[in-house]
Amino acid sequence: MLHTRFIGTGHYLPKTVLTNFDLEKIMDTSDEWIRQRTGIHQRHVAAEDEATSDLGLEAARNAISDAGIAPEEIEYVMCATLTPDYFMPATACMIQQKLGAKRAAALDINAACSGFLYGVQLADALIRSGAYKTILLVAAEKLTVRLDWRKRDTAVLFGDGAGAVVLRGEEGEHGVLSTFASADGSAYQMLHIPSGGSREAITPDNINDVERGIMMDGQALYKRAVKAFGEATERALQQTQLTSENIKLFVPHQANKRIIDSATSRLGIPDEKIYLNLDRVANTSAASIPIALDQARKEGRIVDNDIVLMAAFGAGLTWASAMVRW
Ligand code: UT7
Repeated sequence: MLHTRFIGTGHYLPKTVLTNFDLEKIMDTSDEWIRQRTGIHQRHVAAEDEATSDLGLEAARNAISDAGIAPEEIEYVMCATLTPDYFMPATACMIQQKLGAKRAAALDINAACSGFLYGVQLADALIRSGAYKTILLVAAEKLTVRLDWRKRDTAVLFGDGAGAVVLRGEEGEHGVLSTFASADGSAYQMLHIPSGGSREAITPDNINDVERGIMMDGQALYKRAVKAFGEATERALQQTQLTSENIKLFVPHQANKRIIDSATSRLGIPDEKIYLNLDRVANTSAASIPIALDQARKEGRIVDNDIVLMAAFGAGLTWASAMVRW
């Protein structure tokens, strides 16, 4: 049977690290508050001249070298991001060009923090349909350009980074076992960036008044996140007829340790089966899961034949899951 296999993973984190203690110096917050409410200790921040595609390119190079393939073998480059280099063209085109993936089509996916898993679902369908064999899925974010450093309620939560996977259709039992994606646009205002798009353009007259940063109703979102994680993970278990016992590692979107804890305690997934890196990288939106996936693999937490569950929740609202036999 044809399955979509993860044949390579990679990630990239920009060099500069901003700790909670660094943030204490520039806003009214504390390391204690951030750690207790979120589990975050630090985040990486991209340099001024480092754009989203530069982060994505490094992650992609690492994933391609891990897969042991040449860039010319890639038929499709997808990039999940909410912080593209430009509105036009797609960041995936920037990565395609820099990689030398000359044969590849290129497309951006904007499903915010669920973008990587939306991408897995799309790539899996394209591969299993026979349309493409090898797809590079990158997820990259330079979220710090969309933060208002005067706003402690959002500024402490996010970081920059990128992750990438090479997906290939292969006969056998290994690969994507289930995918699920859902959305509720009626709650879009819970997490959005009001200005800079076509709804509220930034003009010389309003530039000092508009909200260019991420706006969030944290508490309302928190409740929706716990519910959505529950639905996404249950759907993965239903579709695969597996139980939480079968799962070797759960790799969740890393937004808040408390959200992950409440979702996993409902599912009965013990702590040792959960991969967490939000203490080190904070919330990197779409890039969150593929960064964690690559780190988990390199640490030996995922080996051949392991069942890996991934679930995400984010702006849109969107939520999604995927189950994979490695
Ligand atoms: O990846 C996309 C999905 N994102 C999410 O799912 C995020 C979901 N929400 C959350 O993770 C949490 O709601 C937050 C971490 C954002 C906030 O935690 P909370 O426990 O819901 O705190 P809160 O918003 O209710 O704020 C509690 C208090 C407030 O003070 P008062 O009104 O009680 O005096 C805030 O002003 O904490 C204050 N506060 C802060 N204090 C120190 C808010 N931000 C900060 C801060 N440092 N950075």
